[in-house]
Amino acid sequence: MYDDLERVLFDEARILSRLDELANEIVRDYTGKPLTVLAVLHGSLVFMADLLRRVPLPLELACIVASSYQGGTKTTGHVALGGLDVNRLQGRHVLVLDDILDTGLTLNRVAREVSAQPGVLDVRVCVLLAKRKRRECAVKADYVAFEIEDEFVVGYGLDYAERYRNLPCIGVLSKNVIGRSTKDSG
Ligand code: IMP
Ligand code: MG
Repeated sequence: MYDDLERVLFDEARILSRLDELANEIVRDYTGKPLTVLAVLHGSLVFMADLLRRVPLPLELACIVASSYQGGTKTTGHVALGGLDVNRLQGRHVLVLDDILDTGLTLNRVAREVSAQPGVLDVRVCVLLAKRKRRECAVKADYVAFEIEDEFVVGYGLDYAERYRNLPCIGVLSKNVIGRSTKDSG
């Protein structure tokens, strides 16, 4: 898998030390509040697991499945949502966790969906990565671990055609892998 990277952006140690800082901000902001963390699957799984173990608050965890890609590196522009149990959000502060803020379509859609639920106290957004680019949909990211340039990255939960999620680092995927059939890539 490492051979398919053009370069590594953040190694595991760098990611974890940044998560320590992010966790401190979350503890500072949510202490004493009923917090539900809403993880956007599947990209946020690795980030969520490492981040939440650094947040010693009595939080609840909920998940939502969002998909806008069909195997490649471009969003389809349509975001399908599923799996959210809205009854669990009543009377809660909701912190939406996702892997990356790119066009903003996914998080805009998720944040609107959650905000529309009765009894939700407030909604904030936390992402591992935010691409420096003009968003197609406005999203305010309240917590961002790292800002990156507009390049296609994989690892630490982020995939290309469902692969590379288990890479412990975050890296830029090599251009000659993009477009190559996953069947050929071994
Ligand atoms: P958005 O809706 O365009 O903001 O993109 C949201 C989703 O697209 C993310 O949750 C990722 O699953 C995927 N995505 C966007 N950029 C990348 C990338 O560079 N690598 C891997 N997945 C990405
Ligand atoms: Mg993805």
